[in-house]
Amino acid sequence: MNQLNNEQEIATDNEIQAVQRTFELIMPIADTFSSIFYTRFFAKDPAARPLFKTDMASQRQKVIDMLALAVRGLDEPQTMVRELEALGQRHVTYHVEPQHYIHMNTAILETLADCLGENFTSGMRRSWIKALELLTTVMLKGSAGSIVESAKLSAQA
Ligand code: HEM
Repeated sequence: MNQLNNEQEIATDNEIQAVQRTFELIMPIADTFSSIFYTRFFAKDPAARPLFKTDMASQRQKVIDMLALAVRGLDEPQTMVRELEALGQRHVTYHVEPQHYIHMNTAILETLADCLGENFTSGMRRSWIKALELLTTVMLKGSAGSIVESAKLSAQA
């Protein structure tokens, strides 16, 4: 078992391996994966589209790189957690809100099924749900920290 802290279990070694194996299958088709994924995400949440100001080709690459870091880092939680908290903190400045993560995680799961077909087993799906819940929890923790900090600054103004 890998532990994030005393209360929060990340995932079992088998679950981590299932997520990492799936991601290795995705890497050779990463650009297709990220195109389908953003199409699905914007279909679910059209209001999120205008939040993206830069070109989507570079955004797709950045998300893949960050997902790769998160997935490979599942067995080194402390480093991964620091990176993801900082990422969550930056997402406050992009006006990202908690409900966006639900649509994004659903879009990721659906795109994994699109790209992998039968190879995306129910066990893999369960492991991905756990990993995405972890990713979201840590990013939102980073966001909350950033909101608390700006509240402190406003109080001083
Ligand atoms: C799976 C969780 C997510 C990951 C791994 C992720 C990753 C990233 C990365 C790596 C960047 C590049 C900038 C940076 O590093 O700060 C970024 C930017 C951004 N993300 Fe996310 N993100 C996630 C969830 C979301 C969600 C739920 C939204 C909701 C709309 C979102 C909206 C944005 C926006 C608007 C930008 C800025 C794009 C721009 O500069 O035009 N992200 N994201």
